[in-house]
Amino acid sequence: MGKGFYISKPLGFVLFGLGVGAVLTIFALSVVYSQEKRKNEVNARDGTRMVTTAAPHSTSAPSNEPWDKYRLPDTLLPEYYNVTLWPRLVPDEQGMYIFTGKSGVALTCVKETNLIIIHSNELNFTLTSEMHHAKLTGLGGTSAPVILKTWFQIQTQFMVILLKEKLQVGKSYWLYMEFHGELSDDLGGFYRSQYTENGVKKVVATTQMQPTAARNAFPCFDEPSMKAVFHLTLLHSAGTVALANGMELGTENVTIDDQEVLQTRFEPTEKMSTYLLAFVISEFTNLRSPPEANIRIWGRREAIESGQGDYALSVTFPILKYLENYYNTTYPLSKSDQVALPDFAAGAMENWGLVTYREQSLFYDPKVSSNEDKEWVVTVITHELAHMWFGNLVTMRWWNDLWLNEGFASYVSYLGADYAEPTWNIKDLMVLQQVQRAFGVDALVSSHPLSSREDEVITPDQIDQLFDTITYSKGAAVLRMLSEFLTESAFAKGLHNYLHEYAYSNTVYTDLWKKLQEVVDADSSIQLPASINEIMNRWILQMGFPVVTIDTRTGSISQQHFLIQPDAVVDKPSDYNYEWFVPVTWMKSGSNMGQHWLLTKTASYEPMKTDTDWLLANLNVAGYYRVNYDPQNWERLLTQLTADHKVIPVLNRGQIIDDAFNLARAQIINITLALRTTKYLYEEKEYIPWESAIRNLEYFFLMFDRTEVYGPLQTYLQRKVKPLFDHFKVITSNWTRKPPRYMDQYNQINAVSMACKTGVKGCSELTRMWYRQWMKNPDSNPIPPNLKITVYCNAIAAGGVEEWDFGWQMFKNSTIAAEAEKLLYGLSCTKEPWLLNRYLEFTIEPNLVRKQDVTFAIVYISGNVIGQPLVWDFVRANWEHITKDYDDGSFFFGRLIQGITKKFSTEFDLQQLQRFKEDIAASSFSFGTQAIEQAIEQTKANIKWVSENKVQVMNWLIEQSA
Ligand SMILES: *[C@@H]1O[C@H](CO)[C@@H](O)[C@H](O)[C@H]1NC(C)=O
Ligand SMILES: *[C@@H]1O[C@H](CO)[C@@H](O)[C@H](O)[C@H]1NC(C)=O
Ligand SMILES: *[C@@H]1O[C@H](CO)[C@@H](O)[C@H](O)[C@H]1NC(C)=O
Ligand SMILES: *[C@@H]1O[C@H](CO)[C@@H](O)[C@H](O)[C@H]1NC(C)=O
Ligand SMILES: [Zn+2]
Repeated sequence: MGKGFYISKPLGFVLFGLGVGAVLTIFALSVVYSQEKRKNEVNARDGTRMVTTAAPHSTSAPSNEPWDKYRLPDTLLPEYYNVTLWPRLVPDEQGMYIFTGKSGVALTCVKETNLIIIHSNELNFTLTSEMHHAKLTGLGGTSAPVILKTWFQIQTQFMVILLKEKLQVGKSYWLYMEFHGELSDDLGGFYRSQYTENGVKKVVATTQMQPTAARNAFPCFDEPSMKAVFHLTLLHSAGTVALANGMELGTENVTIDDQEVLQTRFEPTEKMSTYLLAFVISEFTNLRSPPEANIRIWGRREAIESGQGDYALSVTFPILKYLENYYNTTYPLSKSDQVALPDFAAGAMENWGLVTYREQSLFYDPKVSSNEDKEWVVTVITHELAHMWFGNLVTMRWWNDLWLNEGFASYVSYLGADYAEPTWNIKDLMVLQQVQRAFGVDALVSSHPLSSREDEVITPDQIDQLFDTITYSKGAAVLRMLSEFLTESAFAKGLHNYLHEYAYSNTVYTDLWKKLQEVVDADSSIQLPASINEIMNRWILQMGFPVVTIDTRTGSISQQHFLIQPDAVVDKPSDYNYEWFVPVTWMKSGSNMGQHWLLTKTASYEPMKTDTDWLLANLNVAGYYRVNYDPQNWERLLTQLTADHKVIPVLNRGQIIDDAFNLARAQIINITLALRTTKYLYEEKEYIPWESAIRNLEYFFLMFDRTEVYGPLQTYLQRKVKPLFDHFKVITSNWTRKPPRYMDQYNQINAVSMACKTGVKGCSELTRMWYRQWMKNPDSNPIPPNLKITVYCNAIAAGGVEEWDFGWQMFKNSTIAAEAEKLLYGLSCTKEPWLLNRYLEFTIEPNLVRKQDVTFAIVYISGNVIGQPLVWDFVRANWEHITKDYDDGSFFFGRLIQGITKKFSTEFDLQQLQRFKEDIAASSFSFGTQAIEQAIEQTKANIKWVSENKVQVMNWLIEQSA
């Protein structure tokens, strides 16, 4: 699935600079999965039985029957399916949207058995004349055994067919079924999405199969290694168009049950996994270019006709060509469709040949959308297209290797985007968007290794929970490190060999190591201290990452597991516990570079010794580790920053700040040393160092915005940001032009938002002026797209009901998802409690705010100092209602709870949280308790941090303005 499965990136990312999402770098998203796993392991170690968790399905099946296990038996293999589906885009007499279907699967018996176990979930079957739910015939002259009985195992989501005699090894059979199901609006399986066009409601039937919902559309062997060919036929009404993984073969009029419908048949798919299937029936229109490449961009007519798909169209073909070249493997399919859907849970989904997207992941309108929106589009498209080979052509054997699939696509998305937009330097952003984000989560005791054992990930809930920051961002960071120390060309060569050898089949991650090792062995210019397997296992099989400490007085160098809470104890027993093999790159005083592999806990390395030069390690943050130095070297680095910061590479300027703040949080260095890394910022104009500083300082705002530290903090930052604000005023000719450099366009957002936040003169006036102009003439928004979020937020905060109502009206009128999201955030910035309360009420009206956006809206409101207590009351009062109506996966609760509690830093907050946990535990509906436990852990850490640092921070800030 596309990145953004767990966070809406355009906002999650943009708002880092604006005070909403920044805690991510320091704090975890709710990594419920790891907690659950830790519990199980602890219990297993204690010799007690594994406890069942809060998840609705438990692993502890009462019996040992094959249908009570979650994994399919290894007796049967599917060869191909013939599937016909007919979704109804109008409700039936009961008001239900349904689909009907019939499907057959040719299966081959590979081990003798008298059972057929096939996935099926929430489908109702039509009984055959023999009163069974399925019909079995032999293929190729074989005769089929008689069916004794068929039934459904609800918990394991199986249909079970018991046969009178055994199936014969080597023989093939045809299993045929007719069924119907609900086309619900839960964003999973075969579901419906809705939008309005010219005042008319339109319904779209679409799918989201990954990870385990193909079984909700038709009975199938729904595991990634059960690859098969799919022959698909869709029935649909006149005026709609049907799409699937394969190209349409033709559409004809047919009459079924006295109804005239269109029947579209599709070319058979390649041999593929069920989770990559997709079908879309809609009134969408498309763009196509170049004609011979069969690349189409689909979406709402209004959006396509107004040009919102043009950017996607212009980059898709080049990216596909880039990837063909990168993998040195031709695109394996005859077409590539990209479809933008009005309702979509993830960022996008890499269905083979029919990629589905959230609208803001595919649509871009230069008049209204910002740089981030554009960058999001190009990186999501690359991410998904990267999967067409890596993931789709070659697929992980089981979900425990999801990290390789997602980490890889996340990494490669920057390479393809860099090709499509070469002037952006977008690869640099990987450090902020992936490496630093992964550091934040992976520094917690509740983190988990990238790779899990196959038997640790069994149930659909366990699989869902793997889609987290570790999987995506740490996966990307670790693969980037690998590619850097192998060289990009050797990495790509290994990939090509891997794709070539395992095409149309399944792998485990060591298969990739094997192919890369072959490249290394054949290339004497690559020198590694150990095999790829040995090096990489240390990064993959154990959680966390090291902080490398260099003492330039002695040349000693050492490593230590970096944990953000210094007194935290990793209570997970792990049989894999080794020093990391760390590629330590370094430079001295701007020249004199080198690399040294640190393989042991400590080592002595003469070239690291220096008396006068400053030493800087982890150049361009290519390695997945933090760095600490002896005090003298820190001083030399700080001196260099103030004297001439440009001598230090820009990525490392960001790293120095980010490492320092995190080392201080872990009590490895003093908090004032961290604050001192920001002193030179009045001279800094670059985005990455500023962004690193703002993200880290965001925690100070969260903890202190209701305390006496707030004033001095404002004064200090105001001085740092004022030169930046003035700089942008100049290079934009008094805010009338866009800064020419891409990274400057980003940093302009920081300049304006920080200036407004800290009260730099001229900022609030600027934002209010723009907003007022817009209110006067709603048809022409004068606000530069990049600055919209900041301007909306600040103008609405400074205004009253009139400004708010105007924003709300614009939100409701907006036909552009990216624009709506910005307003959704801006509306949360008002300082009027009654407006915030009314906004909260609006969020749970499905007609007013889309389900997919509800958590974001609630979390935004809670980011507002005044909104936070309102949200907390609201969520507690409506918990049952919210959780019942918005169950789109457990990450929903994590996101909500994490967002609402991020400012919690007092004993009183903690007590309330604990009481809430008890109330929920006592109620009948106890979903979300894991997330609450994490919030409790976090609140305790906040309390401790505030008590240890408040006075020091306060004094240091006051000293600076003396
Ligand atoms: C499945 O569909 C294909 C293509 O339409 C057809 O050739 C084949 O005979 C069908 N198989 C069975 C068993 O009906
Ligand atoms: C399937 O059957 C169940 C039980 O009879 C019923 O509640 C449900 O509505 C049915 N689903 C559909 C889509 O007809
Ligand atoms: C189906 O029938 C309608 C008229 O009933 C006709 O306009 C249309 O062209 C036909 N479509 C196909 C694919 O034959
Ligand atoms: C691409 O693959 C072909 C066939 O496997 C191989 O002969 C060729 O050397 C590869 N090209 C590059 C640049 O690696
Ligand atoms: Zn993905």
